Amino acid sequence: MKWIEAASYGEMSKIAADLFIDHIQKDSKSVIGLATGGTPEGFYKELVKSYEAGEISFSETTTFNLDEYVGITEESEASYHHYMKKHLFHYIDIKPENIHLPNGSAPDLEKAAKEYESKIKEAGGIDVQLLGIGINGHIGFNEPGSSFEQETHIVELTASTREANKIYFERLEDVPTHAITIGIQTIMQAKKIVLLISGASKQEAYDRLRTGQVTEQFPASVLHLHGDVTVIYTGVS
Ligand code: F6R
Repeated sequence: MKWIEAASYGEMSKIAADLFIDHIQKDSKSVIGLATGGTPEGFYKELVKSYEAGEISFSETTTFNLDEYVGITEESEASYHHYMKKHLFHYIDIKPENIHLPNGSAPDLEKAAKEYESKIKEAGGIDVQLLGIGINGHIGFNEPGSSFEQETHIVELTASTREANKIYFERLEDVPTHAITIGIQTIMQAKKIVLLISGASKQEAYDRLRTGQVTEQFPASVLHLHGDVTVIYTGVS
């Protein structure tokens, strides 16, 4: 695992964006895994800036997002579909057919999960995967106790995750109880992984990841078993 300490949130975002930009410049057909949440907002700003400056094109790039809530529509402002349009897709030249997010409003969620996993495989797997980390160590929505062997599946969100994400909803009761997420096995099959950690609320998760102990009780710890992980962190020490 490579650890890079960034002096600020802006610097973390720029270092991460440069890694992805470099990858896409070298291989325009890259398959990129994307995350949502507060942490990567600056990262997306950097990608948009680079696109607007004419440094990069996404016209041949394919993306797969990590997760989506179950039970809210794609149009809902709290959906990850909406988040991705708002922060990235609206501003760049990516082809709509190359954008993939799990379908949290599918009538048959199990089937939707299987189909999503197949699409990732058909695309040849993920070249570079962006991750954030939950305060409980989740990656994607793989909560503590998740098997390391799982592919895309439906999860019940923990109380701590729902609490952390309630800022995007009017009331805690509105935060979905379930999500559809790519599994840890899917994440581990990505050729390269970039994990962003930002801010004091992630100190405990950062400390735990630093110990190097691998356990399903702390999902991000699985990353110690991957050969190409870069952690870019700021605001924790
Ligand atoms: C988001 C995701 C989550 C977040 C994590 C951290 O697609 O899969 O694992 O990365 O919950 O979220 P923030 O960045 O909001 O602290």
